[in-house]
Amino acid sequence: MLLLIAVAIVVFGSLIGEYAGVKGWLGGLWFWLGHQGWEYLDLGRLWQFLLVIGLFFWVVILLRGLSGVLRQQHFGNMPWMFFYAALAIPAFYAVGLLTGPRAGFVINDFWRFWVVHLWVEDFLELFTTVMVAYMFVLLGVVREATALRVIYLDIILYSLGGVIGTMHHLYFSGTPVAHLAFGATFSAMEVIPLLLLTLEAWGFIRAGEKTTSDSMHLHRWAIWFLVAVGVWNFLGAGVFGFLINLPVVSYYEIGTALTANHGHTAMMGVYGMLPIGLMLFCLRYLTQPDKWSDGAAKISFWSLNLGLTWMAFLNLFPLGIAQLYHAVDSGYWRARSPEFILLPWVNKLEWARLPGDALFILGGAVPLLWLCWRAIRYPNPRRIEAEADVPNTLFVYSSEGRL
Ligand code: HEM
Ligand SMILES: [Fe+2]
Repeated sequence: MLLLIAVAIVVFGSLIGEYAGVKGWLGGLWFWLGHQGWEYLDLGRLWQFLLVIGLFFWVVILLRGLSGVLRQQHFGNMPWMFFYAALAIPAFYAVGLLTGPRAGFVINDFWRFWVVHLWVEDFLELFTTVMVAYMFVLLGVVREATALRVIYLDIILYSLGGVIGTMHHLYFSGTPVAHLAFGATFSAMEVIPLLLLTLEAWGFIRAGEKTTSDSMHLHRWAIWFLVAVGVWNFLGAGVFGFLINLPVVSYYEIGTALTANHGHTAMMGVYGMLPIGLMLFCLRYLTQPDKWSDGAAKISFWSLNLGLTWMAFLNLFPLGIAQLYHAVDSGYWRARSPEFILLPWVNKLEWARLPGDALFILGGAVPLLWLCWRAIRYPNPRRIEAEADVPNTLFVYSSEGRL
C-alpha cells in the first residue's frame, strides 16, 4: 500500500512538474521539480530520486517475501537469480542520476542511454526472462534445469552483445569513434541473443498451449499474456529492433517512425503485457471465484494485442519505411521536415491508427479496470488458500535440479 501511494506521488508529481516546467512556470526550480529535458529522463530530479528510492523499496519488499527461500537455496539457483535481476532494476535506473544540468550533451546522452539501453533493453529483459521462467517453473510447465539454462545463457549473451552494444545509440552524440566501432559491431552481434529470444518465445507459446489443456486453466489468460510477452519480444524487440540495428540502417533512420515502431512494440509488447499477466494472476486469487470473468480478460487480451499490431502495421511501420526512403533519397532533414509530416497521405496514415488505438483503450484497458474493480468489490475471503491445486504463493519453491 505504501509503495502504491509512493508510486502515485511520483507519477502525478512528476507529470504536473513536467507540465509546469514546459510552460516555464517553475523558474529556477525547473531542474528539481519540472522537466529535465532528456527523453526518458524527463522527470525533475526530485522525482527521479524518489523513483530510485521507491524501486529499492520494491526490492526490499521482494526480499521480505523471498528471504525464507533464499536462505535454503544455493546462490546460483532460480530464487537468487530472481533477486539479482530485481536488484539490477533500481541499480541501473539510478545511473540516470549521473546526468546533470551543467554537463555537456555528450556526457548526458551517454548516461541517458545507459538507462534506455542497458536498463530497458538489457536488465529489464533479463528480469522478464527470469520472471516468466520462474512462473512457468512454479506452474510446472517448464523444467527448472531448462529454465536455469536459458537464464544463464541470457546473462552471458546480453553481457557480451548488450553491454558494449549500448554505443549503437551514440552515432550522433560526439562519442569517440572507437566506442562507435565497438558499439556497431557488438550490436550487430545481437542477432545471437535474438535467436535465443525466438527459441524462448516459441517455448513460451508451447508452454501456453500445454497450460490451457491441464488444471492450470485457472490462469489461462494470465498465461496468454506471458505468451504475448514472448511473441512481442520476438517481433517488437527482435525483428523491429534488428531492422534498425545494423549501423548502415541506424545511421539513416535514427529518430524516425521506425524507431517509434520498434520502441512501442517492444515496450508495450514486453513491459506492458508482462505486468498485465502478473496482475491477472493476482486478481484471480483476490476475487471471489464466481465473480471472476474470464471473458473480460479475453476481450482485453485480444484488444490490446490487435490494437498494438494495428498501430505498428498500419501506421508506424509504413510511415517509417517512407521516412527512411526520403532520408536516403534526399537527406535526413527532409524525412523529419514539417513539409513531409504534413503531406496529405502522411496525414491519412496518421488517422489510420485511430481504430487500433480505440480498440486498445476501450477493449483493452476498460475490461482490466473492470476486473480490478471486481477484485475490490468482491474480495475473496479465503484468498489464495481457496485454490489448493495451484502453488499458493509465488515464492514456494520446491522443485528438482538445484545446483
Ligand atoms: C524489450 C526490449 C526492448 C525495448 C523495450 C526497447 C526499447 C527501445 C526504445 C524505447 C528505443 C528508442 C530510443 C530513442 O528514442 O532514442 C529503442 C531504440 C533502439 N533499439 Fe531498442 N528496445 C528493446 C530491444 C532492442 C533490441 C533487442 C535491439 C536490437 C536488435 C534494439 C535495437 C535498438 C536500436 C538500434 C535503437 C535505436 C534506434 C534509433 O534511435 O533510431 N532494441 N529501443
Ligand atoms: Fe539499444
